[in-house]
Amino acid sequence: MVPALVASSGTPQQGSLRSIDVRGPGKRMTYYSMRSSGTMMPGDPFGTVWLKNIELRNCFVFAAAASGGAADPAGVITSDEIGRLVTYVKCGLGLIITGAVGISAYALSHAGSSLLVNDRHIAGFSKLTRAVHEQDGKIAVELCHSGIWTGGYMRELGREAIAPSYIPENPYITRPGFIANYHAASEQEIEAVISSFGEAAARAKEAGFDAVEVHGAHDSLLAQFLSPLTNHRNDRWGGTLENRARIHCETGLSIRSRVGDDYPVILKIGVADGIPGGLGSEDGRKAAGLCRKSGFDILEISQGLQGTKFSEMALRSPINSPDQEGFSRGWCRDIKKDGATTIMTGGLRSWGIIEETLHNGETDYIGLCRPLIREPGLIRRWQNGDRSKSTCISCNKCGFAISKGLPLACYVDKPNYLNMV
Ligand SMILES: Cc1cc2nc3c(=O)[nH]c(=O)nc-3n(C[C@H](O)[C@H](O)[C@H](O)COP(=O)(O)O)c2cc1C
Ligand code: SF4
Repeated sequence: MVPALVASSGTPQQGSLRSIDVRGPGKRMTYYSMRSSGTMMPGDPFGTVWLKNIELRNCFVFAAAASGGAADPAGVITSDEIGRLVTYVKCGLGLIITGAVGISAYALSHAGSSLLVNDRHIAGFSKLTRAVHEQDGKIAVELCHSGIWTGGYMRELGREAIAPSYIPENPYITRPGFIANYHAASEQEIEAVISSFGEAAARAKEAGFDAVEVHGAHDSLLAQFLSPLTNHRNDRWGGTLENRARIHCETGLSIRSRVGDDYPVILKIGVADGIPGGLGSEDGRKAAGLCRKSGFDILEISQGLQGTKFSEMALRSPINSPDQEGFSRGWCRDIKKDGATTIMTGGLRSWGIIEETLHNGETDYIGLCRPLIREPGLIRRWQNGDRSKSTCISCNKCGFAISKGLPLACYVDKPNYLNMV
């Protein structure tokens, strides 16, 4: 018998269980093994699960996806964006995570990004969380600082971006869109980032979000600190792995001090770089362990710095065969073995593979992004018995479109796509 999930509402059969680790408020989703054979109880992968003390309809998470036009010029979420996110909730997903939201006016790469820095932003997001809760959905906000990648926008504002180090030959100089307008962050600037994360998380809680996520993957400022390629500091924020992960840990503690013990705090962590010579997965695994001790309850496992080819990016492509699926699977499995609660995100496309990871206990939750952009009702389809693979072909036109300010959607079937961008 294959091991399988047990729905949180289900009661384990009397006498048949060797280990009972019941899901419920404050407990992680876990697996049951049978006393006699040592194999697992079958369960329902579509059953309700707990995210700390929040009950989710199922373990499927819509991984963060930024959208053009998500906010007005002042950074307040638009009604179109609220409508778009509520659509996903109506499709029966367990948890929705918003696209990246800036923790300060200088944290993201362009004007008109979503922000969470003042009361107007709280009021806007309150409309979103109310609309989601009216549909019995749950939603987390992704808080972000993009560090060196804000260089172009900071130049427009007459400022410089911050980065861990100033490196003339840094790995990004050949990347399209990179603008070298930055300096190595001072101690004071690092402390300001950490407290801004805490303050934004407090605002997120006030706005009614069920959880917060910190973006520490995909070239974010935190990923830049963790990577030996972009962090050449020799103070307490650089050098050893512990020092390079210090900004993550201090951020986790800052958020925890603002939101209290019961509130779910997720870290999307880049546990290995896509660039040769960058962060390796063993160090990423150790960093994940440090973060778990510093305020983060759940780790969404992804990659850190990205290279120039699609095979080096979080938006991996091509994904045409089972061995190309689930690029974070091995990393997630190891980190889960260390005792973490995890979301496995990146390149998952086939029901068979997803079911296997759940049944093997390789992760607690499944994060999907492009498959849900392509087909918001995918989880319902699978649940209703049509288990054929996601129809997303990983062409990344959606990613290109949002980078040109277009709304998030699947663009593969749009014949005039090239005219639009
Ligand atoms: C259009 C688009 C926008 C994205 N925006 C974000 C973002 O704001 N924050 C983030 O952490 N990841 C973002 N991602 C990455 C996804 O969350 C996910 O990690 C990645 O796409 C791999 O998962 P997938 O293969 O299921 O798409 C974005 C991806 C796409 C396609
Ligand atoms: S545009 Fe391409 S990558 Fe994006 S959702 Fe559609 S098929 Fe998938």
